Amino acid sequence: MTITTSSLDVRDEGKCLKESLSKMLDPEFYTNEKWFERELQAIHFSAWHFVCLSTSIENPGSFVTRRFLERSVIVVRGEDGIIRAFLNTCRHRGAPLTSDRCGNNTYFRCPFHKWSYDTFGDLKSAPGLGGSVKRSELSKLRLNLVPVQCEVVAGLVFINLNEENEMPLKSYLGSYIDNVAKPHQVQRMHCVQEKSYTLTTNWKLYIEVDMETLHTNFIHSHSIGSQPVTPLEHGRNWFGVYHQNSLSPALFPEKRSLAFSTPHGVTGESAEGTHFCVILPGFFIVTAPEVMWWIQKTPISATRTSVNVGYAFHDETLARSDFKEVAPHYFERLDQVILEDDQICEYQLEGLRNRVQGHYTPAEPVAAYFSELIQKRLLEVGNE
Ligand code: FES
Ligand SMILES: [Fe+2]
Repeated sequence: MTITTSSLDVRDEGKCLKESLSKMLDPEFYTNEKWFERELQAIHFSAWHFVCLSTSIENPGSFVTRRFLERSVIVVRGEDGIIRAFLNTCRHRGAPLTSDRCGNNTYFRCPFHKWSYDTFGDLKSAPGLGGSVKRSELSKLRLNLVPVQCEVVAGLVFINLNEENEMPLKSYLGSYIDNVAKPHQVQRMHCVQEKSYTLTTNWKLYIEVDMETLHTNFIHSHSIGSQPVTPLEHGRNWFGVYHQNSLSPALFPEKRSLAFSTPHGVTGESAEGTHFCVILPGFFIVTAPEVMWWIQKTPISATRTSVNVGYAFHDETLARSDFKEVAPHYFERLDQVILEDDQICEYQLEGLRNRVQGHYTPAEPVAAYFSELIQKRLLEVGNE
């Protein structure tokens, strides 16, 4: 066969184009339970996991329960105002102390045989041991609730399930606090709507879609359309993209003139645009000038992901007389766009079950970065 100059050009062009692509993780990492187990050990068990805003458990006794990696955890504000976390397991015969997602309790009383614990996790009464047992004697039993590491930074409550963890939350979050959380005044946020559900997808696919806007023109063509972003300088456990906007991206384009004004104190880059960030492993948190939302992904298995979504506004916005009238426009836009992402992530997994490796284009650099980071951490653990 004679090779002409033009066919060589075409081939070179093809080679060049191919070299501009980077590979996704091996498809087994999205589908195979054996690899998922390795990922749990390498990435999830040692991580800090977001639970709620501290304003969601503002009063002594207010609590939330959350499931992480097959553990159920109670996070409660104690009578002394300090937020603590415990495994949601009675020290008698192991029943959960509560099945409520949130509430307010002076005591946690196990529904099975009514052993009860105070907000410090201390055992206070234990039917079966005889009514004459004094409280001081109960403490000698050392059957208090099992504590879980819990810390609050910038109004964000996190827990860590690894008993041996030595990294404080502040160090884990690193530059995210000063670069994003503080400028957006996240500590003043109040969650006004929350929902949880399960998707048939791998959690990483959802992080990838959060971090690229190549899909927005296609998947969100009827909702928000194009949303150009630039990558942010990342930290060890967080990364993200920034979308400069003069009108809020948290509303449908035709409703953006209805947006709440930017609260006092939110200035500079935070008042001019929106930070879309991921705090590893699965906490996607979006801070726009006047609203914040999150989509937290917690894996259940390689192909099942628990999703927790929350919408929050600053105290000042909540106090506006038009809040109740305008907020539903935000909910409508956020619900719709999140649904579109939910659906595409489930759809994508179906194709990956064929075990064909995919690629990222140069237009998806942060998704590619995330993928490399995961691979690196898996290898780190594999080589230990
Ligand atoms: S299992 Fe909780 S009181 Fe018996
Ligand atoms: Fe999306």
